[in-house]
Amino acid sequence: MPFINFGVLLAIVLALTPCFSLAANTTASSNGLMVGAARVDITPTPNSLWLPLNIYDNERLYVRAIVFNNDGVYGAFISCELAFIKDPIYKAANALVAAYLNTTTSNVIVSITHAHSAGPAGVTTANQYGNAALSTYPSVAEAALAAVEKALLVMRPAKVGYNTGSAYHNVNRDALNPLTGRWTQASNTSGPVDREVQVLTFLSTDATPEPLAAWTSYAMHPVQSYLSEYTTGD
Ligand SMILES: *[C@@H]1O[C@H](CO)[C@@H](O)[C@H](O)[C@H]1NC(C)=O
Ligand SMILES: *[C@@H]1O[C@H](CO)[C@@H](O)[C@H](O)[C@H]1NC(C)=O
Ligand SMILES: *[C@@H]1O[C@H](CO)[C@@H](O)[C@H](O)[C@H]1NC(C)=O
Repeated sequence: MPFINFGVLLAIVLALTPCFSLAANTTASSNGLMVGAARVDITPTPNSLWLPLNIYDNERLYVRAIVFNNDGVYGAFISCELAFIKDPIYKAANALVAAYLNTTTSNVIVSITHAHSAGPAGVTTANQYGNAALSTYPSVAEAALAAVEKALLVMRPAKVGYNTGSAYHNVNRDALNPLTGRWTQASNTSGPVDREVQVLTFLSTDATPEPLAAWTSYAMHPVQSYLSEYTTGD
C-alpha cells in the first residue's frame, strides 16, 4: 500500500460509530499486509484538589498504536489522548518507535487528539500532561513503545480501505460580535465548515472480515468538557 502522509492533522483512533456516514467503499489489499492494534492506559492519578472522577470508561486516557507491516516494511500510527505535546516529545516518540520497528521516522505518525480534558483535572496541569512522565510511563515515547509492543503480538493478515464520510459535530467559530464589532469565538452557523471525515480502515482477511483498527481524521477543536475539570479523551 502506498504510505499516506496525513501531516500534522489532529487525528483520533475510533471504532466507527453511527455519527459517521460512509460513502461508497474503496478497498484495496496487499498480500503482504499484516496489522495489529493495541493501547496502553495513561490515565493520570486523581488530582486531590479536584473531584476524583475516575470511575467511568470515558474518563480513561490511552496511547493507541496501529502497527502494520507491508511486504516487510513496518509503519505505525500512534494516537495519544493528550491536550498538548511539545515538539521534542513528539520527535522522541517518533524516533523510538521507528527504531524499534527498524523503519524510517516518516513511516511513523504520532498525533494527539488535543481534547482539552485529556489530562489531569486542573487547567494548568492538563496542559502539561504528556510533556513529562505520564501515568506509569516515564514518557510519551515509552508509552507509545509499549503500545507498539502489544500491537506486534496481535498482528494478523489484513486488508486496508480508505474512504471519506461526513459528520456534523463541528461549527465555524470565526465571528464578530454585532454589539462590540470585536472578534469572538461564538458559533457562526453561516461560516464555512469542513465536515469531511477521513477514515483508514484495517480489516482481517478472514472469510468474514473483522475490523482490526481504524484511523480517523476530522477537523474539530474538541473543547467539550473544557474547564469542567474531569478527565476524558472523548
Ligand atoms: C465495496 O467493496 C466490495 C468488496 O471489495 C465490492 O464487492 C463492492 O462492489 C464495493 N462497493 C462499492 C459501492 O464500490
Ligand atoms: C529489528 O531488527 C533487529 C535486529 O535485526 C531484530 O532483532 C528485531 O526483531 C527487529 N524488529 C522487528 C520489530 O522486527
Ligand atoms: C460568519 O461568517 C461569514 C462568512 O465568513 C461572515 O460573512 C459573517 O460576517 C460571519 N458572521 C459573523 C456574525 O461574524
